[in-house]
Amino acid sequence: MARTRIPLIAGNWKMNGLKADAIALAKAVAEGVKQGGWKDREVLVCPPATLVMAVADAVKGSGLLVGGEDCHAKASGAHTGDISAEMLKDAGATHVIVGHSERRTDHGEKDATVRAKAEAAWRAGLLPIVCIGETLAEREAGKTLAVLETQLKGSIPAGATAARLVVAYEPVWAIGTGKTPTTPEVAAAHAHIRKVLGGIVPDAAGVRLLYGGSVKGSNAVELLAAGDVDGALVGGAALKADEFLAIAKAV
Ligand code: 13P
Repeated sequence: MARTRIPLIAGNWKMNGLKADAIALAKAVAEGVKQGGWKDREVLVCPPATLVMAVADAVKGSGLLVGGEDCHAKASGAHTGDISAEMLKDAGATHVIVGHSERRTDHGEKDATVRAKAEAAWRAGLLPIVCIGETLAEREAGKTLAVLETQLKGSIPAGATAARLVVAYEPVWAIGTGKTPTTPEVAAAHAHIRKVLGGIVPDAAGVRLLYGGSVKGSNAVELLAAGDVDGALVGGAALKADEFLAIAKAV
């Protein structure tokens, strides 16, 4: 039987936030989550690594979840400047984003690296959110579904189950641009992702699939209503408590 998919609204703060403002933002989101008293959805914020511990401490007991934006594949060692999944866990994180297109572009991360990072998340007891998505050139060339399939097959480790995996579909051309695919385009991508997951994950029907790319309060209802969309991965709009909570409410 398919596992019930609890919607997840996740905020990716990216390289934004200094302590005072970040704590204020996290507390405002936590307050909204507390007031919402939601049992039917999960809300997560992923601050930059420097703030994970402070944010986790500030929102403790509120129901707001805290995650990392990336992790190294190894648990420790000579990797200057990197952060391990174990360190994120130690700082209070429960989730970690891996394979974001900005990591793939800025740091040349390939599917195999992303897969190793997802395994690292499991090793540390974190839930990985594995990101995939096509570029504009790939979409215009009609390669969207093929690209998603390749990324899924390369980025998801063996042993994945619905309880241990979240997948985020983020078309690269929709990130930070104000452009989004149409609802049928999102539904088609998500349906294909779920179909491909069927060959990788035993209980694929239970895997949560998030949409990301220019999600805001005003388009959240429409995007979240698309078939097979189980939540959102939010960038810019996650930096304003009201806007982010409006998306959480739209579930
Ligand atoms: P925007 O919501 O700013 O488009 O960013 C999406 C994103 O990359 C989330 O990971």
